[in-house]
Amino acid sequence: METVCDLASLRQRINGWRGAGEKIGLVPTMGNLHEGHLALVEAARKRCDRCVVSIFVNPMQFGEGEDFASYPRTLDADQRKLEAAATDLLFTPTAATVYPQGDQAQTRVEVPGISDILCGASRPGHFVGVATIVCKLFNYVQPDLALFGEKDYQQLMVIRRMVDDLAMPIEIIGLPTVREADGLAKSSRNGYLSPAERRQAPKLYETLGVTARALKSGERDYALLEAEGQEMLRSAGFTPDYYAIRRAEDLQPPDPDERDLVILAAAFMGTTRLIDNLNAA
Ligand code: PAJ
Repeated sequence: METVCDLASLRQRINGWRGAGEKIGLVPTMGNLHEGHLALVEAARKRCDRCVVSIFVNPMQFGEGEDFASYPRTLDADQRKLEAAATDLLFTPTAATVYPQGDQAQTRVEVPGISDILCGASRPGHFVGVATIVCKLFNYVQPDLALFGEKDYQQLMVIRRMVDDLAMPIEIIGLPTVREADGLAKSSRNGYLSPAERRQAPKLYETLGVTARALKSGERDYALLEAEGQEMLRSAGFTPDYYAIRRAEDLQPPDPDERDLVILAAAFMGTTRLIDNLNAA
């Protein structure tokens, strides 16, 4: 596996493959790779001739006081994992390559509506940062296909909407959340948890499961279920950010007879913000 950090080298490799008629898959990441990321790489390997992974901790999607500076950067270990997963090319641009004028002066991609609720309400500007960097990565690589995790359910919806709205000729694949044995969704941020916090963290997924079962058994008082979910999180030591039952299709508040639901949660365990979601179709 080759690692390149400049656009000319990236384009040269990719143009060669494209010229040979090969199908190219892209897995955008911020690194500190775990099995969730590697499942995306594996799926790309199955569906494409070439798999490109990007690692870029994107300053534009972090807010003031968030963990941009402390976000784990583990390039050597990531390279070993990607090599073992038969990745063809790793792209690791610097901020100067991605944002030569600085990220404030960068042209932005804004997906309205969906970007302003849930995580977007708690992290203003976050999804503009995500949509902008993903759009740039799509233009750099021009993949046939790009793969994302359902762990970041709202992010996946923002990207699907951007691709639709801007008529980008890229197939977007969403893949199920990869979890630890105790149910905790794998995340680069899990490493921030103390041992005691780590023991409590699976309660986030457990709580989603309780709500999903209640919905499946016919309970339809969404406000009550959301309040109960928040309470369960609080008693497990979380400070909930949001706990919401939404229509899976567009993340809007559902009608009482809605069948395709998703429960989304964000909660702080200490200073670590964890997110998770569960379909309750
Ligand atoms: P990052 O958090 O590194 O995640 C990269 C990709 O891995 C995303 O598509 C994410 O949904 C997926 N992923 C993370 N944890 C997962 C898990 N437990 N199971 C399955 N998939 C998982 O998401 C980002 O980076 C950034 O916002 C990015 C899209 C790269 C833009 O900067």
